[in-house]
Amino acid sequence: MDIRRNYSLLEHNTFGMDVYADCYVEYGSPHELLQVIEMAAKGDLPYPLEHIGGGSNILFTGNFHGTILKSGIRDMDYIENMEFFSEDCGVCRMRIGAGVVWDDLCRYCAENDMWGIENLALIPGQVGGAIVQNIGAYGAEIAGTVESVEAVSLATGETKIFDRASCGFGYRDSAFKHELAGWAVTYVVFRFHEKSEPDINYGELRKVLSGMKGCIADEMDLDSLTPMDVRNAVVKIRRSKLPDPAVLGSAGSFFKNPLADASLVDRIRLEYPDVPAFAGKDGAYKLSAAWLIDKCGWKGYNRPASAVSENESIPESVKDVENAKSEKQAGQVELSGAGCYEKQPLVIVNNGNAEPSDIMQLADAVRDSVKRKFGIELVPEVKYI
Ligand code: EPU
Repeated sequence: MDIRRNYSLLEHNTFGMDVYADCYVEYGSPHELLQVIEMAAKGDLPYPLEHIGGGSNILFTGNFHGTILKSGIRDMDYIENMEFFSEDCGVCRMRIGAGVVWDDLCRYCAENDMWGIENLALIPGQVGGAIVQNIGAYGAEIAGTVESVEAVSLATGETKIFDRASCGFGYRDSAFKHELAGWAVTYVVFRFHEKSEPDINYGELRKVLSGMKGCIADEMDLDSLTPMDVRNAVVKIRRSKLPDPAVLGSAGSFFKNPLADASLVDRIRLEYPDVPAFAGKDGAYKLSAAWLIDKCGWKGYNRPASAVSENESIPESVKDVENAKSEKQAGQVELSGAGCYEKQPLVIVNNGNAEPSDIMQLADAVRDSVKRKFGIELVPEVKYI
């Protein structure tokens, strides 16, 4: 177990915020987690206990007064001594520690021809956090491969196994954000498949894949595709659109894609006939947060860091944003604060020296302008700690 006091969290959040925790503990097994819980109960570790994963979906809003917990449980085991796929069902079950890096598991599955999570390649973070967040991309969600989740109550030390239905998975949501918020995920049992119809119908995935295979998109032989083929195409698309957190700090999409009713979509269509809107259940439409933010002009907007921007206000209208962008493009200002990524405005980035307040101010300004222009309230997908 690794216990640190007055510890910088810089390496533990992909936004690159250099904030401190009074205490930080990385534990290597469920047994060690139980010891941590006992130590806190005895007063040897400060409350509150806040569990993080890879730190890729959080924004530390300042120094943290309490104990940050991180899982170092990294076992990856086949269940029931099944060697890969059992003959009768073509399913292989694996029990994976919450501290395993998510993309290490994705790569392992692709290398071993196991279908299920290839569309979720290259998403930053750990297995435990991926469950809490029900990560999703290119038409797939982690929930689709989960059989059960093992977790420990941080309040009582009780251990329980939750089947998939009890995990309450929804769009970027699970019971671990609500009624199970005080539970730390320790292991996840996944079901992977020996054979599967590749799920390549989202956006440009089929097109990119066919380009890589050198064939025409509609004539691609789906039976010949491997999980590694799909992984490679997803990796290519993600690298072309999303910043690498090791180079440019961010937490991926900052907001969730919002839902809107048909009448609101019709009103937006009057001005923007091409508004992307996907019909879902109950007559609601899912809109693209990136599109809404783009139409408010924020794409490619960058600010100086707060240390040098005391006199600079955040723009309010679409016109203000555009003016600010052109002034800065013409000027010599060092833009090292918060920004909206030039290739995907749903991603708020730290251009180098942004403070938590810079990120929060920009996120608020983006949310306010989308609300004013379209009457839609964006909800952050990023968790503020
Ligand atoms: N768009 C624009 N302008 C842009 C970029 C996108 O208008 O500059 C519009 C386009 O209409 C485009 C649409 O936004 O068709 C959707 O863009 P994209 O396919 O990039 O996906 P997204 O809805 O913005 C979601 C996830 C991503 C995930 C991608 C791919 C959420 C909040 N985000 O983004 O997840 O990788 O789909 O499946 O659901 C994350 O959660 O951190 C994340 C990166």
